[in-house]
Amino acid sequence: MNKKVAVYRKERFNAAHRLHNSELSDTENQVLFGKCNSPNFHGHNYDLTVKVTGEVDSKTGYVIDTKILSNIIGQHIIEKFDHKNLNLDIFEFKVLNPTAENIAMIIYNILREKINASLELKIILNETEKNYVEYPA
Ligand code: NI
Repeated sequence: MNKKVAVYRKERFNAAHRLHNSELSDTENQVLFGKCNSPNFHGHNYDLTVKVTGEVDSKTGYVIDTKILSNIIGQHIIEKFDHKNLNLDIFEFKVLNPTAENIAMIIYNILREKINASLELKIILNETEKNYVEYPA
């Protein structure tokens, strides 16, 4: 019997960004990134869902204590990203375009080190109501 259960924790952060590839022309950037290429940045309310999958611990009845999971996300993700300019304030995006895809991968890499390796981890990141990404796919 598969005894694995998935636990989801939702959090939110607000951040500004600009999508731009300096190797492309202004016109190409405009065509590729549209409004997200606006030179003076713009904001999104990012809805972050962290999915942790594993077997239920016989002592606690939990896969992971959601208080602990929330604290990990708060300390390592929300503190880092909330009310920040992703391009200017976040080291990883000095060279990496802060798309939802790249943000999700950065968040995964940070959380992967903080969550027990026996548990599977997945990041779902909504940039808008209609657009969201999942990593790993
Ligand atoms: Ni945008």
